[in-house]
Amino acid sequence: MLGVGDVSGFHHISVMANEVIEALEPWNGGVFVDGTLGGAGHSRLLLQAAAERGVKIKLIGFDRDPEALAAAAARLEEFGDQVELVQSNYRHLADVLEARQWPPVNGVLVDAGVSSHQLDTPERGFSFQNDGPLDMRMGPDAQTVAELIDRTDIKGLATILGRYGEVRGAGRMARRIKEARQAGQLETTAQLAALCGPRRHKERIHPATQVFQGLRIAANDELGGLEELVGDLGRVLAPGGRAAFISFHSLEDRIVKQGLRALVNPCTCPPGLPICACGKAPEIKTLGKMIRPSQAEVDANPRSRSAKLRVAERL
Ligand SMILES: C[S@@+](CC[C@H](N)C(=O)[O-])C[C@H]1O[C@@H](n2cnc3c(N)ncnc32)[C@H](O)[C@@H]1O
Repeated sequence: MLGVGDVSGFHHISVMANEVIEALEPWNGGVFVDGTLGGAGHSRLLLQAAAERGVKIKLIGFDRDPEALAAAAARLEEFGDQVELVQSNYRHLADVLEARQWPPVNGVLVDAGVSSHQLDTPERGFSFQNDGPLDMRMGPDAQTVAELIDRTDIKGLATILGRYGEVRGAGRMARRIKEARQAGQLETTAQLAALCGPRRHKERIHPATQVFQGLRIAANDELGGLEELVGDLGRVLAPGGRAAFISFHSLEDRIVKQGLRALVNPCTCPPGLPICACGKAPEIKTLGKMIRPSQAEVDANPRSRSAKLRVAERL
């Protein structure tokens, strides 16, 4: 189901756009990596914000999704050779830079999770509100949810649903999913949604939301990629370069927060040692506190409501 279809209608509203531009200061020039290009909303704004001050930056855009890259290529056409697009998982950013002999960069942006285009395209299988295949791959490097279910036993599925989806009764749900799949009764997103049952009176969110989220995060190994990139910031950023991370749920934000903390204070000496003996020096500093979208933004774009932005600078 993953392919470059009609991308002219690719839609996605960029979250915390002003805050990201202010954090990355593209007008200072240099090379910027958008690790999650999507519809190129943030990338365009970075290029424009620099251009408005007469500065030409280079933008390297990563996405796992060929549909996103095709849409972004069309939207960034006017910037010509200022833009370089890479179909890859951003977890490989440090290796890609080294393999291509590109020096460390001045800015990195990660706007984690799925795009509205992915969510709203039924054939991609991300949404429980539309029928589609059990896919949910962000890109061809991921496994489909059908493959994930087939390869994972009930215990493993229960862990995925509990940890990544915070599904209550994860064990029961995992068994139901596995048994339906083995009986040939679980091929589509509508069938998966039906297994999750209806939304009950007092439930804030539909139970399928959490089941779909858990399976999506696992099938795409979303958290593993984020952890790797945060850990690689010392290799990726030039001195003074900045990284901005927008996360959409507490698991992502925790990985960013803890990963940055480990780079801010990498010393592994036992507490109480008068001087550091391990020799591990801080690689970055965090800039300001975590930022949330304004109420005006949440009103205009409800999908921004859970966003959190963290910014760090290479020392
Ligand atoms: C929230 S959207 C980005 C929207 C974009 N910032 C904009 O303003 O249009 C996330 C995009 O990142 C991609 N993506 C998510 N995780 C990725 C990863 N680990 N590596 C590369 N691309 C990823 C998804 O395929 C999706 O297109």
